[in-house]
Amino acid sequence: MKTRITELLGIEYPIVQGGMAWVADYHLAAAVAGAGGLGLIGAGGAPASAVIEQIKQCKALTDKPFGVNIMLLNPEADAIAQAIVDMGVKVVTTGAGSPEKYMAMWKEAGVKVIPVVASVAMAKRMERCGADALVAEGTESGGHIGELTTMALVPQVVDAVSIPVIAAGGIADGRGFAAALMLGACGVQMGTRFLVAKETNIHANYKERVEKASDIDTQVTGRSTGHPVRALRNAMTRQYLKLEKEGAGFEELEYLTLGGLRKAVVDGDVKNGSVMAGQIAGLVNRQQTCAEIIQEITDEAKQVMSDRCKLL
Ligand SMILES: Cc1cc2nc3c(=O)[nH]c(=O)nc-3n(C[C@H](O)[C@H](O)[C@H](O)COP(=O)(O)O)c2cc1C
Repeated sequence: MKTRITELLGIEYPIVQGGMAWVADYHLAAAVAGAGGLGLIGAGGAPASAVIEQIKQCKALTDKPFGVNIMLLNPEADAIAQAIVDMGVKVVTTGAGSPEKYMAMWKEAGVKVIPVVASVAMAKRMERCGADALVAEGTESGGHIGELTTMALVPQVVDAVSIPVIAAGGIADGRGFAAALMLGACGVQMGTRFLVAKETNIHANYKERVEKASDIDTQVTGRSTGHPVRALRNAMTRQYLKLEKEGAGFEELEYLTLGGLRKAVVDGDVKNGSVMAGQIAGLVNRQQTCAEIIQEITDEAKQVMSDRCKLL
């Protein structure tokens, strides 16, 4: 399945596994890479030494291309950015800010740079500063989110830039994949679907919550602080939203979510932790290997595209 993204990254299928903090370790990244997609290690807030170890382990498991997602607010972002160059990582995706200050260093080293954007303005800025491609991420996504839906964001970003665009947010099957291609994307990034992959090392309670989720089970906390996050509803989101309604301050709200994702992923505390997942969780109800996920989505996309063509 060739698109500008498979050609740019040297992968078989234009399917990217989101670089999810605490979730996307080297097991998952290597499994996705081995299955022909782009696997990403999610650096999140981890120290550089831990990310370096993850990269080493991933290299030991696969010789296919894989990448690292850097959360630019990480206090050790500089060291991680340097490690990417030193260790010959092929691709970097970036979130929570602009990667402009690392761009020259990465480009010189031949690293493909793919910022995650949630608006046309940011997309244009990233293209101007040398990005190789973009992830346009809609508000349906799990985790930190922007305002626009995938349906509205992707075609507007596609029209605004000439570099290839990967669609993210609310895509978990072949229909979503095909729809993204129709909107002009050259690939898709999925997070929620990969949460329940067999190779994903998260607590069984987390996987179970995602598998049992329905279409209306996510809530967005943090709109009042300017840092909206989508997660499955639980005691923590209910309390957060109550406090937000009462006008609680930033610090009180932050305290409630401190280490929330770790609590859910590592401890399996799905009541008080942050069980980040996207609106598409209602469609995600089976644990499969990454290879099965990628194969199924690709086959289904090809099928729906050919069925639609027959209808026209
Ligand atoms: C648990 C979780 C953690 C995430 N962490 C990050 C992150 O650290 N950096 C990032 O750029 N995106 C992060 N994301 C977003 C994903 O990479 C991906 O873009 C998003 O999940 C796509 O939408 P979907 O959930 O509808 O598939 C996270 C998503 C989830 C569900």
